[in-house]
Amino acid sequence: MMPSSPRIIVALDFPKAASALHLVDRLDPALCRLKVGKELFTSAGPELVRRLVAANFDVFLDLKFHDIPNTVARACAAAADLGVWMLNVHALGGPAMLDAARQALNTKGAPLLIAVTLLTSSGPRELEVLGIHETPIELVQRLAAMTAQAGLDGVVCSAQEAEMLSQQQGDDFILVTPGIRLSANTQDDQLRVMTPVQAIAQGSHYLVIGRPVTQANDPIAILHTIYSDISDSARVQRDL
Ligand code: C5P
Repeated sequence: MMPSSPRIIVALDFPKAASALHLVDRLDPALCRLKVGKELFTSAGPELVRRLVAANFDVFLDLKFHDIPNTVARACAAAADLGVWMLNVHALGGPAMLDAARQALNTKGAPLLIAVTLLTSSGPRELEVLGIHETPIELVQRLAAMTAQAGLDGVVCSAQEAEMLSQQQGDDFILVTPGIRLSANTQDDQLRVMTPVQAIAQGSHYLVIGRPVTQANDPIAILHTIYSDISDSARVQRDL
């Protein structure tokens, strides 16, 4: 089945353009969007992003900008010039930086702008060392509220936080969730995982999925399976 608007963002976590394109050639813009992160962007550069955009893919440029407001604003404008669909900054850059980023994207058709709250690799110990006397959950809630207040479109968060953030910020606030696995048995290096159906039920708008798709023998079949699981689950919910 084809989704009306693809909710899966395939993470192109490859070291070189050639290996990314080898997968992309088998994918379909009607079935998924694509995420280009720091590794691939540093190696393959804006040329690859332009190529993906020209092939009609919605590209999430995951460079997590965090710098002085002027520099971040200019980086956001440069990303918008590439024609990406979504980009992100660190909420820890603070309100002035978030505001500058949003203002740089104040034109019609500009990319969606979301923020990373707290990286899932940082736990309570890390916060203590940084002198932040809040629990990770409290910090995530506070940074998400600051992000919404600055007028950004949403946040990247773990699916475990999605329900809480969706209640806090409402349904229009976009939640992008990584850490997705097709069955709870396969985790790779992710500490906490959720299936696509669980993540959507928690309020996630877009699922970032890397290895379960990029390392599959038949990535297209995996994407179709996920969409059909999501749609079956929505049907069951409606019938209850
Ligand atoms: O292969 P896997 O599905 O684990 O890939 C998840 C993707 O989401 C990777 O690109 C990873 O960098 C990204 N990500 C994450 N956790 C976060 C933020 C981003 O796994 N908190």
